[in-house]
Amino acid sequence: ASPGSAQVGVIGMAVMGSNLARNMAHHGYRVALFNRTFARTQAVIADHGTEGEFVPAEHLEDFVASLERPRRIVIMVQAGAGTDATIDSLIPLLEEGDIVVDGGNAFYEDTRRREAKLAEHGLRFIGAGISGGEVGALEGPSIMPGGPESSYEFIGPILEDISAKIDGEPCCTYIGADGAGHFVKMVHNGIEYADMQFIGEAYELLKALGLSHEEMADTFDGWNSGDLDSYLIEITAQVLRQTDARTGKALVEVIHDAAGMKGTGTWTVQSALNLGTPVDSIAAAVFARAVSSHPQLRAAAQAALTGPDGSLQVDDPAAFVDAIRDALWCAKVIAYAQGLDLIRMAAAEYGWQIDVAAVARIWRAGCIIRAKLLGRISDEYAANNLVTLLEAPSIKEELGAKQDTWRRVVATAVVSGVPVPGFSSSLAYYDQARAPRLNAALTQGLRDYFGAHTYRRIDDEGSFHTLWSGDR
Ligand code: ATR
Repeated sequence: ASPGSAQVGVIGMAVMGSNLARNMAHHGYRVALFNRTFARTQAVIADHGTEGEFVPAEHLEDFVASLERPRRIVIMVQAGAGTDATIDSLIPLLEEGDIVVDGGNAFYEDTRRREAKLAEHGLRFIGAGISGGEVGALEGPSIMPGGPESSYEFIGPILEDISAKIDGEPCCTYIGADGAGHFVKMVHNGIEYADMQFIGEAYELLKALGLSHEEMADTFDGWNSGDLDSYLIEITAQVLRQTDARTGKALVEVIHDAAGMKGTGTWTVQSALNLGTPVDSIAAAVFARAVSSHPQLRAAAQAALTGPDGSLQVDDPAAFVDAIRDALWCAKVIAYAQGLDLIRMAAAEYGWQIDVAAVARIWRAGCIIRAKLLGRISDEYAANNLVTLLEAPSIKEELGAKQDTWRRVVATAVVSGVPVPGFSSSLAYYDQARAPRLNAALTQGLRDYFGAHTYRRIDDEGSFHTLWSGDR
């Protein structure tokens, strides 16, 4: 290809980057390709070179020279050091007005820092969260871009073209300034952790009821055709149906029960702690993974502690299966409410103008948490000025109708010794949030007692300190 002929360039030819580049080529873009190790670029051309117009480059200078000006470059390398190294090597090669998109899983504070740094060089930067795994990158992910809106206008059409579509709408929309896109992607992942934890608790309860893996898979398939219709429920049925070729057992039962994590769930909780916003359900999911991956604790506690054996005795097992489904739905709604509240609070803190309805709308397809419920959540935010999802008309009504069942599931699980940290912490959040009065009054009294931290009264203005009778 002639110099300056590629419309967009992708740096990083690992799975996500190469699939995103192929997706662009499938949409008719001429795509420049670069990877630190050229062999990877060559492999992409060897395997997929006929799928569209690619302009591979061994040297970054040639890659940059092959792009139309102003240049559009999407970085898909290892988040963190890889992204910084790539940006540093690009800066001297780029010219004013060129635009760099970081499509990796960057921490939003890094995105804020990088945007400021590139702006100093007259370069434009977009931090775009991309969800959908490798298939999504290839066939249409959900994309959450953040940065200056004027920069988005320049790269947005390509991102919208390659994103997933639902009802003819792209699952990509401008989110807000600087780190807003990566923040929203981070919260997406936090919600994903919670979704998976709730599904895990439902699985454990169904198993405790004595259902076979075939029956559990059928149950999840059934749930997937109702209110819980979602990608994660759909693939849960498939995972439960898988048998292990080596032992003939259900594959899930021979998988080591220690969950891994790459950090986005932890970031979500850390950010929530920094902002003072409760995301109990997401935290419960992150800590449940931490317990699973703490072998010393588990071995010591298993040897030391007694309790019920975790089998469930219920009068009407079929009804209890439905009850588990309802508890899962309620807990899921709570996690979404917490995640969206976190986005709202971060937007206020960082001055982002985030349209929560639009965020829910682009999560309806392409991404890992895609779910029918997100259409309803989006409609509710669009129609109402909501502080919390929990006050949305159709949501509060359904939670009200199901909360009794949800309590029964949590209570039964607790009595039987089945751990349900996600279901129960979500329920505690529900009850805390709706409580007319919280035990925080006593906390304030204690703080004033030992530290003279003062308190406010319900019947007067100002701060008060008491000379407590126990004071010496
Ligand atoms: P995966 O897990 O799919 O391999 P990843 O680790 O997130 O993906 O990203 C790997 C990509 O980041 C590779 O393209 C890698 O380049 P190499 O093929 O040369 O290893 C790229 N990458 C990692 N660190 C980098 C760095 N410091 N500078 C440039 N590219 C880097």
